Amino acid sequence: MTRVLTGIQPSGALHLGNYFGAIKQMKDLQDSSDLFIFIPNYHALTSLKDGKALRENTLDAAINFLSLGIDPNKATVYAQSDVKEVLELYWILSGYTPMGLLERAHSYKDKVAKGIAANHSLFSYPVLMAADILLYDAEVIPVGKDQIQHVEITRDIAIKFNNDHGDIFTIPEYKVAQELQTIPGLDGAKMSKSYGNTIDIFQTEKQLKKTVGKIETDSTPLEDPKEWKDCNVYALAKLFLDNDGLLDLQKRYEKGGEGHGHFKMYLKELIWEYFKEAREKREHYLNNTQEVYDILDAGAAKASTIAKKKMEIIRDAVGIYR
Ligand code: ADP
Ligand code: TRP
Repeated sequence: MTRVLTGIQPSGALHLGNYFGAIKQMKDLQDSSDLFIFIPNYHALTSLKDGKALRENTLDAAINFLSLGIDPNKATVYAQSDVKEVLELYWILSGYTPMGLLERAHSYKDKVAKGIAANHSLFSYPVLMAADILLYDAEVIPVGKDQIQHVEITRDIAIKFNNDHGDIFTIPEYKVAQELQTIPGLDGAKMSKSYGNTIDIFQTEKQLKKTVGKIETDSTPLEDPKEWKDCNVYALAKLFLDNDGLLDLQKRYEKGGEGHGHFKMYLKELIWEYFKEAREKREHYLNNTQEVYDILDAGAAKASTIAKKKMEIIRDAVGIYR
């Protein structure tokens, strides 16, 4: 089976865009591939300097994956910091990473342009990412568009290393999640934390009702027929409905007599029901965090076995030590 590997930043509350744009694909991949999914908490250190927050976010990220259906019996789920070999490989790979390659990285330039302090870890971030990937001979890396260049850098580093030492690393390929699925936010633009237009998955029913209430709609009078085609409420409801459900909803729009408030109530119900099981699981894990740590330990043990073997080959190739 193809080894697919991805890191998902522990960056707080997940929204519908994260679920339908990323996590749902992971659920499909765990059935069809050898999926490695990890929480890049060393990477998070580049910008987060609050130990308590990082510790909590890391656990929370694991709880979120597990609650939303990542199955530790199918996928290897672990925290990056539980497999220390990645840091050793990071250093070794640094010697195969031309400065120019890192100087050209968009993500570094963007972060600095945004005013994030330019420290060394931010600069060398792609080298650690290369170590994440190459340590496990990952073949396919599902990424958002912003991460493509990082996988290209990984390929360059691996090729350079292989040129000197023989075929040690598998050259990975990136796979961009299909952009057919750009989930719109409250204002119809792409749902994103940075636009403040998200519908978060794990909020109380009351909060969810309030959030869905903020979806922008036109002001067609209640009794008039309404357009469903460009309606933000409809676009989101689509994610949860089958064909029959969609046709019913279209009829309700076309018939008139119901306002957008009704459709929003309906959408809220759809979202609330869809994530019912996830909410229950999350509640369970929040009350039984030891179970989550055990799952992460088991994932790390599996990852470590592979990492240790690979590191022996790499050390031997570069001459560390006997
Ligand atoms: P945000 O834009 O809220 O900061 P991230 O950049 O952290 O979200 O995204 C994490 C993952 O979720 C990425 O794989 C990204 O492709 C996916 N994702 C985020 N928002 C959307 C969206 N509106 N539509 C589709 N996928 C999305
Ligand atoms: N840099 C990725 C992001 O910001 C996270 C990440 C770290 C990653 N290491 C990885 C993704 C290895 C894929 C493979 O989203």
